[in-house]
Amino acid sequence: MHRTHTCGELNLSNLGLEVILSGWVQKTRDLGGTTFIDVRDRYGLTQLVVNTDDADDLRTKVKDLGREFVIKVTGTVLERSNKNLKIPTGEIEIKVSNLEILNVAKLPPFMIEDETDGGDELRMKYRYLDLRRNPVRNNLILRHKMAQEIRKYLDAEGFLEVETPVLIKSTPEGARDFVVPSRMNPGEFYALPQSPQTFKQLLMVSGFDRYFQIVKCFRDEDLRADRQPEFTQIDCEMAFIEQEDILNMFEGLTRHMFKNVKGIEFEDFPRMHYADAMRLYGSDKPDIRFGMEFVELNNIVKGVGFPVFDNAEFVVGINAKSAASYTRKQLDELTDYVKRPQIGATGLIYMRHNEDGSLKSSVDKFYDEEQLKKWSTAFATEPGDLVLVLAGAKDKARKQLNELRLEMGNRLGLRDKNTFAPLWVIDFPLLEWDEETERYHAMHHPFTSPKPEDIAMLDTDPGNVRANAYDLVINGTEIGGGSIRIHDRKLQSIMFKHLGFTPEEAQKQFGFLLEAFEYGAPPHGGIAFGFDRLVSILAGLDTIRDVIAFPKNNSGRDVMIDSPSTIDDKQKKELSIETTA
Ligand code: AMO
Repeated sequence: MHRTHTCGELNLSNLGLEVILSGWVQKTRDLGGTTFIDVRDRYGLTQLVVNTDDADDLRTKVKDLGREFVIKVTGTVLERSNKNLKIPTGEIEIKVSNLEILNVAKLPPFMIEDETDGGDELRMKYRYLDLRRNPVRNNLILRHKMAQEIRKYLDAEGFLEVETPVLIKSTPEGARDFVVPSRMNPGEFYALPQSPQTFKQLLMVSGFDRYFQIVKCFRDEDLRADRQPEFTQIDCEMAFIEQEDILNMFEGLTRHMFKNVKGIEFEDFPRMHYADAMRLYGSDKPDIRFGMEFVELNNIVKGVGFPVFDNAEFVVGINAKSAASYTRKQLDELTDYVKRPQIGATGLIYMRHNEDGSLKSSVDKFYDEEQLKKWSTAFATEPGDLVLVLAGAKDKARKQLNELRLEMGNRLGLRDKNTFAPLWVIDFPLLEWDEETERYHAMHHPFTSPKPEDIAMLDTDPGNVRANAYDLVINGTEIGGGSIRIHDRKLQSIMFKHLGFTPEEAQKQFGFLLEAFEYGAPPHGGIAFGFDRLVSILAGLDTIRDVIAFPKNNSGRDVMIDSPSTIDDKQKKELSIETTA
């Protein structure tokens, strides 16, 4: 027998019990007469003790122990004289009678501790050791619990979990595909799914009615903290529903998860139109843990001879409450922040509402106290507030101010990780103008339904047609997105036309779906949540890497297994891929 108990469960109620434990050596402390050994497994840590009066061969074995050796010990549970009340096993220790070294271990390249000395790259290379650390393991335990709660909720609501294929052809989510050569079909390729979008719609045609899948998706896109080339979606679709049904069902799922995993309950989720999100926050995923809403200033600041404002399409600002005490140096830092190439503002203008009530701006030459009072009214400033203003092209200025708002939120401590602010953003535009190709793209995907009342505008004003599309945003992160689909063959053809597909192209790429729609497609719609993002938000983490057992690094590499890697010429030949030789 390898163990009678785990390393996390013994306590004072077990005193005197003879036990067997197995695990890894966390550390040994030789205090002359007595040696303490901490043995660790997935469940916790237990202190072992060996004294000078113990048998020689036991003491020799203890001397040989190194960090991360795998051991099995037999011993008796005793009360500790020096208790550690921070851990559940901290009031007892095991007086060892027998110790077996099950395996030796090389010295790990970094400390297997909560706070480790290992850098990112090293921890990724030895990810199996990193996974021994409590914080990383706890993230995966949280992920597991969330997956169970998701299945519980969706099963109770009548959803069926159906697996869809991984070797498919291109899905229309807008990123690049990962492709897989087909040996049996020389010169032809499968694509890995960017999402199961078309399959879940086909399942609706098949009458499955409520589908879900916790599923791997693959997108060959530039990586960021919240993006991995392979990631997991909670993918869902429902038939005979309207947008309202979907929002309620998945608000329910989100509530269920927060309640059962975190013990947090929410009021109804607020809803915001896309246009308002852009106007008030300059973002389609606003972080509403704090206000600091945008104030548009064109009517107030133009026409007094300040060229930066006079020449700009758009002047817009925020009121950073209680930041008037910012020093010149801090303001210079903020200016540098917005001028970084990633943000690209040309400068930053500010106004202090001082504690003594006076108003002081960085453009006093142009705006006297009378003028600044108008600013103060527009921003509803109070003594102690700092107004920050950007000017430029409308969309750009909004985007830049969004970044500045988030930065100020961080600096002023308004983005607490233990506060959760969910939000539905609804009524997204159907189409998005692409500068590069000079044509419209589907903002969500080509099967998204326009709002019926906007369909007439498709010909006259396509950019302003709204879609029955929605996103769930939590704390400024896009957690999920979905839409009501087009189930009408004619409307789908009109959409393809507007997206610049010829009927032949549409047929070639999506013929199977268009044909399916001719065999009785029910009204349907759905949503997909980014599971990794959801777990990382609940775990209070900044990157989804920490909630994935074996993630890729920022260049899309798995440095542990060294992938991607080259394949040999024989393999290439079999796959009909050109060799360079
Ligand atoms: P969408 O493309 O919005 O919708 O994706 C849904 C959610 O998946 C997450 N996500 C990602 N997470 C990690 N890494 C990535 N590279 C990544 N890309 C997306 C986001 C996002 O909100 N088929 C549609 C859904 C539908 O219409 O039902 C879809 O895939 O959290």
